[in-house]
Amino acid sequence: MNTRTESSSREQDYPSWAAAESGDTAADPRAVRFAADFPVRPIPMEGTVDTRPICSTPGSGFEELWKQIEPETRTRGNDVHLPISAAYAERLCDAYPSADRELVLVTIILHDTGWAHVDESRIISEGFGGDWRKATIRFGHEREGCLVARRVLPGLGYSEDFIERVCEIIDGHDTRPVAYSLEDALVRDADRQWRFDRAGIALSASWFDMDMATYTDRLQREIIPELITEAAVAMAEEDLRRQRELLRTEVIR
Ligand SMILES: [Fe+2]
Ligand SMILES: [Fe+2]
Repeated sequence: MNTRTESSSREQDYPSWAAAESGDTAADPRAVRFAADFPVRPIPMEGTVDTRPICSTPGSGFEELWKQIEPETRTRGNDVHLPISAAYAERLCDAYPSADRELVLVTIILHDTGWAHVDESRIISEGFGGDWRKATIRFGHEREGCLVARRVLPGLGYSEDFIERVCEIIDGHDTRPVAYSLEDALVRDADRQWRFDRAGIALSASWFDMDMATYTDRLQREIIPELITEAAVAMAEEDLRRQRELLRTEVIR
């Protein structure tokens, strides 16, 4: 049996994930400054990075913030996506100690809470079908996420300036293709990295209605090149190697 032929014909059922369009954002002074400050990509590590399975270093702290957004964790797998992404974000902050750790961690915890405040029936149909990165529902979840941040953070003692910086990252985290700061870049990478954990693979592959071999191939081909930091690439490659072995994707395809 020619499995390669079957695999490639199956690939045609899944058009490539379109990259978000840069539009005017690449010319934004924040994007220009960030690109000038970090000209080498992926951005070299400042320290070292832990590439063990993410469950060996779960996230910690921020209990009050997690309690505040408990209702928002009930939508779209956020109770899986957010804690796993936050655990990856902690590792990224360890690898890039010059980044504002509090900003990165608060933002990754909040970044997708807006999904709880958009029309749930449209999340799968528009948010994951076709040109999902440009779907109206994606802009909606970014806007709503900023509203959640503005609602919960003042009561936890965060300053207006800090909250503005959180919202600057949440706004456009899926739909804006360029990062504006190192903190923005770390949030973006953590948001993608959870997909390389086995729980992330299982959940997100089901959203895209893909089998494991196809999905892990696409992580390799389309998501690893999007990662901005060397630490994220190192973790993603190790995760992917482990998950492919575990899921037997070289055989089951
Ligand atoms: Fe998002
Ligand atoms: Fe996300």
